[in-house]
Amino acid sequence: MRPILLIVMMLIAVPLIGFGGVYGMSEARLRDMKRNAPFEWPIPTDTASLERGRHIARTRGCFGCHGQQLEGWDFGEQWDWPERAVAPNLAAYARDYDAATIEAAVRQGIDRNGRALTSMPSYNFRHLTDDDMAALIAFLKSAPVAGKKLPKAKLGWSVRWDFARGAEMHIGQWVALVPPLRVDPVKDPQRARGEYLAMTMCNECHGLDVRGESLYSVIGAGRPTPDLAIVAAYSREDFETLLETGLASGGRELGLMSLVAPDRFPDLADEELDDLYAFLSALPNEPVPENVMWRPEN
Ligand code: HEC
Ligand code: HEC
Repeated sequence: MRPILLIVMMLIAVPLIGFGGVYGMSEARLRDMKRNAPFEWPIPTDTASLERGRHIARTRGCFGCHGQQLEGWDFGEQWDWPERAVAPNLAAYARDYDAATIEAAVRQGIDRNGRALTSMPSYNFRHLTDDDMAALIAFLKSAPVAGKKLPKAKLGWSVRWDFARGAEMHIGQWVALVPPLRVDPVKDPQRARGEYLAMTMCNECHGLDVRGESLYSVIGAGRPTPDLAIVAAYSREDFETLLETGLASGGRELGLMSLVAPDRFPDLADEELDDLYAFLSALPNEPVPENVMWRPEN
């Protein structure tokens, strides 16, 4: 073989092997997932359950990311995390896939092909009860399909490289890190209900145990978030104002918090606000776990 031909072949082969390796290793990590036993809870059809499902979808931010008509959302360049994140049309998805597939995506961070999700915050939904999960699925399946075709999602080579060498965790791994619920529902039912709300609504951004920091700040996509023990400094009234309008005590406009709160939290009932406030305002009495990987040392 002529030397020149050999050089040309090497020039083609070396990058191919490199990219192929990164692709293969990142896919291997994303596909290293085991689904729990399929979700077989009965899916309700009564009006009260559908309304409950809508309430879960609203307060857990499904509309915020998947569109106000669940028509899907192209994050385009809004997020520089994967090359292009696209939240699918949820109403269409819920018609195409069965309850177990939807449950795996929402509570386990595993997509319809058995691959780990990379942007969807399933770690925030890990603790949703079977009843709430079933109501949510019932609502999604009943939602009318709107919207037009969305572009294809793209992971991008730098993110693949991070997954390939284990420098970045996919959502399945984040889900596994969410701590268990701790408040005893028999001894302290109100705080237990509040913990359930906080650990399925606020830990998307306020740290997996709501004691500050999160995926968002770890990946550099937002400001660090405070430990929600800060709520002890809020009156019940100011807390309600914050959740309904996004304005912090003293009428302060915040960043991301002021954007998401008015979209999600005005739907909370008074009792839910009471429960959430009871749980969060008692947090200063509880120790903050140390050496948590998502909470950088200061
Ligand atoms: C912070 C934004 C965000 C929120 C909040 C969110 N999603 Fe997603 N979701 C996404 C993105 C982005 C994807 C695309 C997959 C990926 O990149 O992880 C996705 C994908 C999905 C999928 C498809 C999984 C597959 O098979 O590909 C389902 C189902 C889903 N989301 C359901 C929900 C439900 C139900 C809620 C509310 C409880 C919700 N999502 C809240 C952003 C979000
Ligand atoms: C989508 C991300 C997100 C979610 C979900 C979220 N927060 Fe926040 N929150 C933030 C960020 C970011 C800040 C820091 C200020 C800012 O940049 O907006 C913040 C700040 C706060 C503050 C501090 C206000 C102050 O006085 O400075 C409180 C209290 C708070 N959030 C409560 C909550 C509660 C309670 C929930 C759940 C019901 C919640 N947040 C859900 C992102 C979020």
